[in-house]
Amino acid sequence: MTDAEIKYGLAGVVTDDTAVSKVMPETNSLTYRGYAVQDLAAKCRFEETAYLIWNGELPTQNELDEFNAKEKAERGISTDLIDVMRKFPSGAHPMATLRTAVSFLGLEDKEIDDHATDKLYERSISLYAKIPEIVAADFRLRNGKDPIPTTKDLAFSENFFHMCFGEVPSPEVVKCFDISMTLYAEHSFNASTFTARVIASSLSGIYSAVTGAIGSLKGPLHGGANEAVMHMLKEVGTAENAEAWMLDALETKKKIMGFGHRVYRSGDSRVPTMTEAYKNMVDIIGTDEAKMYWEMSRILDKTMVDKKGIYPNLDFPAGPAYYLMGFEIPMFTPIFVMSRITGWTAHIIEQLSDNKLIRPLSNYTGSPQRDVIAIEQR
Ligand code: COA
Repeated sequence: MTDAEIKYGLAGVVTDDTAVSKVMPETNSLTYRGYAVQDLAAKCRFEETAYLIWNGELPTQNELDEFNAKEKAERGISTDLIDVMRKFPSGAHPMATLRTAVSFLGLEDKEIDDHATDKLYERSISLYAKIPEIVAADFRLRNGKDPIPTTKDLAFSENFFHMCFGEVPSPEVVKCFDISMTLYAEHSFNASTFTARVIASSLSGIYSAVTGAIGSLKGPLHGGANEAVMHMLKEVGTAENAEAWMLDALETKKKIMGFGHRVYRSGDSRVPTMTEAYKNMVDIIGTDEAKMYWEMSRILDKTMVDKKGIYPNLDFPAGPAYYLMGFEIPMFTPIFVMSRITGWTAHIIEQLSDNKLIRPLSNYTGSPQRDVIAIEQR
């Protein structure tokens, strides 16, 4: 028995310093490198936020141009990887295929063991450039279509739509998507980022750390919640059914996806901005179905807050917003990866710049020490 108090789920435990982002539950706010996320979402393209997360400052126009040129130069995945993806079992979840594809990128990298900061930064940009193409190619292959090659003419979000659908939607839709990218980019020591730091701390390499982080994000208690939210909305079925559905779910002690947060207790900093983007998508699409999902979401939100005092998290508006943008539900968490790769890799670089192996203690509750009896006498 250890004398130390056990903090189950590491709740409330501070394990290291970070200069990447600050979550402030007392004010429901979040800053990346000192800038409020809602400000970044309103005034910057996702590329500017990505630059900020890695470099600590917002770019000038020249710096941004240079950064975008670097990202575009890294676009393009190998035909070997596409061939491997063609062989993925049908029905595999896109987060599982993405995890495998990113691991494959590591196999292709000849300098995998170089942990110098400049090399890690180059690889971070490479992952940020290639992951959208993997997500889009996987979507098309699963639907029996050939991947659409990346283009160097389009910006990050536009290029992703192009690779998925062969066309770019209106600037208003792209803006809603871009906002979601900014809001998903970074969130301090959440489960997947901490996973990335733990793996990086053993000097296993950036691809191992990112592959592990994808595995962690996949779970429905973490990033997988944005998909689970949309499944829930479909199960609820109609806005009229929403209140009764929620009351019954609470009565039967169901976990309601898209609600609650380990750190925020009275609201998630990112929700108002993403809810506005979701509403914009509803107005842009304008169908009865879109309006119905909006109405249903409002009722579920109000009922949960009134009955349990548990607030929605970012996944609650992001899930239906992606649905209205035309993405299949199993793509929602891979889309989250396209953004969070910036935060993960910034943390990997930070971890490795002053590394200490992450190795907590445990409180042993098993059998007391005993003698081994040889098998013939057992
Ligand atoms: N639905 C129903 N009840 C919930 C809930 C939810 N989404 N979130 C929390 N609660 C309940 C817990 O069951 C617990 O009840 P109890 O005291 O009767 O056991 C109580 O609220 C306090 O839970 P808390 O300690 O705040 O939760 P946590 O820190 O262990 O878990 C999450 C945080 C995110 C894992 C949890 O809120 C959850 O599973 N949410 C749904 C999945 C999700 O949206 N994940 C994305 C997170 S960004």
